[in-house]
Amino acid sequence: MSVHALCGVCAVCVLCVCCNTLMSFNKALQQGVSSLEADVTVSLDGVPFLMRDRTLRRTTDITKVFPDRQHKDASLFNWTDIRSLNAGQWFLESDPYWTVGSLTWKDRNRIANLTVCSLVEMLRLAARANRSALLNLHRPPPEHPHYKTWVMDTLWAVQRSGISQKRVTWTPDTDRARVRGLQQTSLEKLSVEELRSRGISSLTLRYSQASNKDIQNFLANNMSVTVYPVNEPWLYSVLWCSGVPSVSSDAPQILRKVPYPIWLLSPYEYGLVWITSDLVSIAIVIGIFIFQKWKMSGMQNYNPEQIMLSAVTRRPSRDVNIMKEKLIFSEVSNGVTSVDEHLYPENGYDIGQYK
Ligand SMILES: *[C@@H]1O[C@H](CO)[C@@H](O)[C@H](O)[C@H]1NC(C)=O
Ligand SMILES: *[C@@H]1O[C@H](CO)[C@@H](O)[C@H](O)[C@H]1NC(C)=O
Ligand SMILES: *[C@@H]1O[C@H](CO)[C@@H](O)[C@H](O)[C@H]1NC(C)=O
Ligand SMILES: *[C@@H]1O[C@H](CO)[C@@H](O)[C@H](O)[C@H]1NC(C)=O
Repeated sequence: MSVHALCGVCAVCVLCVCCNTLMSFNKALQQGVSSLEADVTVSLDGVPFLMRDRTLRRTTDITKVFPDRQHKDASLFNWTDIRSLNAGQWFLESDPYWTVGSLTWKDRNRIANLTVCSLVEMLRLAARANRSALLNLHRPPPEHPHYKTWVMDTLWAVQRSGISQKRVTWTPDTDRARVRGLQQTSLEKLSVEELRSRGISSLTLRYSQASNKDIQNFLANNMSVTVYPVNEPWLYSVLWCSGVPSVSSDAPQILRKVPYPIWLLSPYEYGLVWITSDLVSIAIVIGIFIFQKWKMSGMQNYNPEQIMLSAVTRRPSRDVNIMKEKLIFSEVSNGVTSVDEHLYPENGYDIGQYK
């Protein structure tokens, strides 16, 4: 069980991988996921198998093998036909997760040889690894010979695989009474009372469906919550800190590299940081103001003429020198005349005119 623990408060186990092939399940188990998730449908001859899409077009080579039947529902093929398809080439060709480049030669060969996985194979793998399985079931269309018995077909596969019933989680809202031995989870956000009355103690919700408040409410009522799909570290961090006990991911290899939640600010902390930085800047401004004021008050002890002269000596240009000479000269001749009169003469002359 891959439980990440941090300060005893935040703990999330990463569930599932959803490529629906034996190889991807094996990889997920190596990554330490605690549960495998599969999309299950039933073949024409009643074999439950794993397929996420309604048709076989995206994830198999059906366009080459049975081009005339490629748009048919996946459940309208018999198991012999389904098993003859290649379910790995598409992955190597389309490289949906930009991972093919990093695969070893051996892995690529194995992927090139993958077939569609049956439910029994997948459950056997989970049982051997002592992990659980979550089943998303797709009911076959009404014209399907197993339209009425699809639930029994699936349960039969669960039994044949030898996995403990307690390790299998059932999602469809139909036939819950018939699958009492299995774990029950709801894909719908029902009220706590409704869930209790149906004997359901866990929910599997899309992250956009569940607010933090909902999650807290379910957890407070002893309902386990799994959130999906969680493939990005930031979302994983948010959920982790809001106390979500498990998430479902297509990318456990990414989430495994997140040992603790990324530092994220709550609105309160964000406000606090802003107010603190505001207060610090106000303090700095006031400090500078007081310092300046103190410096200015020190200057009042100087003789104004002294200030003028010392200011002027710092500007070594020619007209300033002339200015200085004139100033000194006029001091000598006039005695008490104020400096201002010479710098800003009444007749409108300014410094520029000394050029
Ligand atoms: C499966 O269907 C094909 C036709 O697509 C048929 O030829 C074959 O005999 C069927 N196999 C079984 C086991 O029913
Ligand atoms: C599938 O595996 C077999 C050996 O088990 C090998 O001979 C064959 O070349 C592989 N096919 C592909 C398409 O890699
Ligand atoms: C399987 O897991 C359960 C707890 O989840 C544990 O008690 C049991 O010992 C495990 N069995 C094996 C064979 O690892
Ligand atoms: C949840 O379970 C704990 C112990 O298992 C129990 O003490 C508590 O009362 C339960 N809460 C609710 C709301 O059922």
